[in-house]
Amino acid sequence: MTRFAASEEASARTLGSSDASVENRAAMLEKLAAIEGEHQKALAGGGAKYVDRHHQRGKLLARERIELLLDPDSAFLELSPLAGWGSDFTVGASLVTGIGVVEGVECLITANDPTVKGGASNPWTLRKALRADEIARANRLPVISLVESGGADLPTQKEIFIPGGAMFRNLTRLSAEGIPTIALVFGNSTAGGAYIPGMSDYVVMVDGGAKVFLAGPPLVKMATGEDADDESLGGASMHARVSGLADYFAVDEPDAIRLGRQIVSRLNWKKLGPPPAAQYEEPLYDVDDLLGIVPGDLRIPFDPRDVIARVVDGSVFDEFKPLYGSSLATGWASVHGYPVGILANARGVLFSEESQKAAQFIQLANQSSTPLIFLHNTTGYMVGQEYEQGGIIKHGAQMINAVSNSKVPHISILMGASYGAGHYGMCGRAFDPRFLFAWPSAKSAVMGPQQLAGVLSIVARAAAAAKNQPYDEDGDAAMRAYVEGQIEAESLPMFLSGRPYDDGVIDPRDTRTVLGLCLSAIHSAPVEGTRFDGANFGVFRM
Ligand code: COA
Repeated sequence: MTRFAASEEASARTLGSSDASVENRAAMLEKLAAIEGEHQKALAGGGAKYVDRHHQRGKLLARERIELLLDPDSAFLELSPLAGWGSDFTVGASLVTGIGVVEGVECLITANDPTVKGGASNPWTLRKALRADEIARANRLPVISLVESGGADLPTQKEIFIPGGAMFRNLTRLSAEGIPTIALVFGNSTAGGAYIPGMSDYVVMVDGGAKVFLAGPPLVKMATGEDADDESLGGASMHARVSGLADYFAVDEPDAIRLGRQIVSRLNWKKLGPPPAAQYEEPLYDVDDLLGIVPGDLRIPFDPRDVIARVVDGSVFDEFKPLYGSSLATGWASVHGYPVGILANARGVLFSEESQKAAQFIQLANQSSTPLIFLHNTTGYMVGQEYEQGGIIKHGAQMINAVSNSKVPHISILMGASYGAGHYGMCGRAFDPRFLFAWPSAKSAVMGPQQLAGVLSIVARAAAAAKNQPYDEDGDAAMRAYVEGQIEAESLPMFLSGRPYDDGVIDPRDTRTVLGLCLSAIHSAPVEGTRFDGANFGVFRM
């Protein structure tokens, strides 16, 4: 067992100001500054012109609405803030999503940003919204939608119209699962958008702002020849007094937010997961050191125990099987009083021993209903004759089987490399971690850029040889340089977060806080392993 607090290893965990840690820190701070610059773009929304116009109309911005909705001084865990990065759309994808506390209840909040293209939903907005729905459903979080949107982004409608129906389906499925859905309508909510309030359990509309109709005045005129105005077709007063779609009539935006809080206070909401320990200790080591652990060059290994010691309660990590499969550290700890199992890559490559150890550890966590945290820094499963003959595919498959069928909540943090099937075995995005965050130092792809370019080169060379053609060495060098650049760019956290393949890129120093917020949200739902919900694992190939 490794108990950092008590063992003689404790002194080794003190990083101090070694040359390597100073260099790593500088590299990490540079990447953090770049990420921060992109976060600023999301905060700026549609830019000063549209922000000013919005304020002059007497309206609050999306983030101002959220701030007023949340309990004073409580945290807001924003999700997918970089969605849309690298696309033609504004960073943030004209939607703010996140988890915050309203009247003591952790809720999943979404807010259209009307300063960006009238709050219209583009393909990235849709992906971000669907991810938010997934998070609400898996963690059983009431949903509050702060609505003001121009509906579908019309030029890209082909990307969103058909899959976009899932937004309405999800709202009613959440409701069917007993997860409350609340819509506060501040502005435009027309056509398809009208079904956001239409499918929600509770609806509040703001007088003079809300416009909820299937078709606005021009379309009605075209369709039926009828003359009508915005208010009679879809104003708050009409919906509160005549159609009954509005349950609550708000005189202004702050009133709508007050009513939203009031609704949550009457939900009689109870979390179903076990509560955290009443008392726990902070880590013994300085979180600031987390900036200096991951080398700028990911080929240089680092010890994830240095990270664990700065993230878990009291820096206590009871290591499981420390002498076996030592490229993967596994063990028990707690974070903000919540028990967790941790799997952390210790030296890049996963061998058969590491894979089997992981499969066993994941099963143990399911026996005791303990959530799992995966700390990624892996180049994947080991290749080569010896390892193939030793059954690396079967053993990797055991780990992937275990992670796929595990029923306890998983959280993944990409600290460094997360390549190949190693990304899968460590609970990559396709394996439904409840949350997945990346550090600015993370990189994820099918393999490293040099390896990928090298493989392409070998294949091209073999193809030329098979046809008895001379190989163009200059062309090969140019191709490799180009491909390396492309794969490197596509491996970076901003790019992946833009898709959005993670839930955000975080400052390593915030890891403990983010994990605590996630674990608290996770415990809104029951926390049960396979032993308790009757589920099972697939056949483990031996
Ligand atoms: N798709 C793409 N762009 C849209 C859009 C949409 N659905 N709705 C608005 N925009 C754009 C506008 O073209 C404008 O772009 P610009 O500033 O580059 O010229 C920008 O967003 C702001 O729109 P504007 O009309 O100036 O804002 P507003 O706050 O006065 O009005 C709306 C906002 C949403 C009420 C109004 O733009 C509108 O009615 N849009 C169409 C709504 C609609 O019918 N959507 C289809 C539903 S499926």
